[in-house]
Amino acid sequence: MKGIGVGLLGFGTVGAGVFHALRNQEDVILKRTESTFEVRAVLVQNADKKRVKEVEPLITTRFDQVMDADVQVVVEAIGGIEPARTYIEQAMVAGCHIVTANKELVAKHGPELERLARNNGVQFLYEASVGGGIPVLGTLLHLLKSNRIYRVSGILNGTTNYILTRMADAGVSFDQILAEAQEKGYAEADPAADVDGFDAVYKLSILGRLAFGAHIPVPEVRRKGIRDVTAAELELIARLGYRLKLLAVGEQYGEMGPISLGVEPTLLPSSHPLASVNGVHNAIHLEGDLVQDVTLVGQGAGEKPTASAVVEDLCNLSLPVPRRSLDEDPLLLPAAES
Ligand code: NAP
Ligand code: HSE
Repeated sequence: MKGIGVGLLGFGTVGAGVFHALRNQEDVILKRTESTFEVRAVLVQNADKKRVKEVEPLITTRFDQVMDADVQVVVEAIGGIEPARTYIEQAMVAGCHIVTANKELVAKHGPELERLARNNGVQFLYEASVGGGIPVLGTLLHLLKSNRIYRVSGILNGTTNYILTRMADAGVSFDQILAEAQEKGYAEADPAADVDGFDAVYKLSILGRLAFGAHIPVPEVRRKGIRDVTAAELELIARLGYRLKLLAVGEQYGEMGPISLGVEPTLLPSSHPLASVNGVHNAIHLEGDLVQDVTLVGQGAGEKPTASAVVEDLCNLSLPVPRRSLDEDPLLLPAAES
């Protein structure tokens, strides 16, 4: 059986995780979806970096070589806006489905990329962009369709939760724990994105759009990070019976009501359910008029949980998809919503 061709953009924590997961889970995927996925090309920045030997023959630094490798799906795990955005747009126009883990791109350009995907008859999926391995976007999109969601809240960044937990429990210094989080593959390429709250803001903006049906631009989301928190403060907070968490909260009461989104360090009584969500775990609490409330908890970052979310998106694509050549259909460029 011929597998579905995957072009993998990026071979860091997420890209490598996806590559290995597609191999290790092949039998499970085949049984459940009657498909297999075969990575046919891997785009990286530095061709000289030492990689596992199975991937070496697939490595390229040229995006056109990825598109020429008989791929029907492009998985984007580079991060940031450019060149990820341009590659995704070109792949959509060429008729490839897209799966991405890139929360910054989805938060800033999600609506126009969704539009371009629709115009080109391809799917654009991004479960891994929020909550690591937690299937929260699928839950919102497919399992809570009849609910008016009025509040989404929770812990959306694994790195900062890991830092706050380790600082409170072990009294280890901020810098040392951040280095640990980087070593474990939890942190962003620039960890300021985690520490200063940007990463959680991107995720909350995506959740807010899916929950409330309106795109709130990133600069309109209130943001405060954890850079100034000290071990002494965390020790005092614990002695008073509280835990400090970087909490993201989105609310809209009434369909026409204003939408409020914000991320900030928040004191929770030790008895609060989110106070015991520790380490790299994330938790997302969804409140809707029918379901009342649902909490999803799981690993919010790291190679395997994130690969799980990406591979689940792959398994949920409508396949196969007919590829086009860019010359065939030059008009399918980004277009305004009709
Ligand atoms: P990473 O470990 O830094 O890996 C990035 C990869 O992209 C590397 O292989 C790098 O190439 C490649 N790359 C960077 N710039 C490139 C360019 N201009 N052209 C081609 N390739 C380029 O990052 P990551 O942790 O895997 O994260 C990737 C994405 O997933 C980000 O959007 C991140 O926010 C998201 N995400 C991460 C996690 C996580 O737990 N780490 C979880 C969920 C979502 P080289 O190998 O040659 O340097
Ligand atoms: N840097 C992110 C985090 C990765 O720590 O939550 C997962 O999105």
